[in-house]
Amino acid sequence: MAAPTASIVAIYPGSFDPITNGHLDLIARGSRLVDKLIVGILRNESKKPLFSVEERREMLEEVVKPYANVQVGCFHGLTVEFAAESGANLILRGIRAISDYEKELQMALMNRRLQPGIETAFLMAGEAYSFISSHLVKEVASLGGNISGLVPPLVETRLKARLAALK
Ligand code: PNS
Repeated sequence: MAAPTASIVAIYPGSFDPITNGHLDLIARGSRLVDKLIVGILRNESKKPLFSVEERREMLEEVVKPYANVQVGCFHGLTVEFAAESGANLILRGIRAISDYEKELQMALMNRRLQPGIETAFLMAGEAYSFISSHLVKEVASLGGNISGLVPPLVETRLKARLAALK
């Protein structure tokens, strides 16, 4: 009898303020590579987020519904601790351009030092999404630019409403 294969549980940590179509593309592709994917929203109020963690979680839960093996969680503190508590053996991150690489490499090496049993794997962003970031989407939306196709429709609606309420 063949030895049982260990299952791969991955976390995909990030700020997701808010989730973009680039994140969603990574979730869709990542979910096909692992048995379970847990999207982890970092609770870090010092970053002055536009959306609360609960709001970000609501939006994420809605958009990951099509992916049966994807769950959403929140964490504060170390990513590797969240991974260990979640029973994960992999951290998934996306790389859009070479400019992302340096920071991601540093984080991956630090995470490996902190928790040698947990590997980091990178997926290259889909070429249609490689210029998208939550930060730029918020900036463009706040200046009245068109963000359709950059974020899921429900995020677009909520983003416009939040920005209008702040005016
Ligand atoms: O979406 P982001 O803002 O690029 O995500 C960054 C994130 C959340 C992955 C990173 O800031 C992080 O892991 N923060 C948790 C703190 C931590 O574990 N730091 C030490 C290892 S780098």
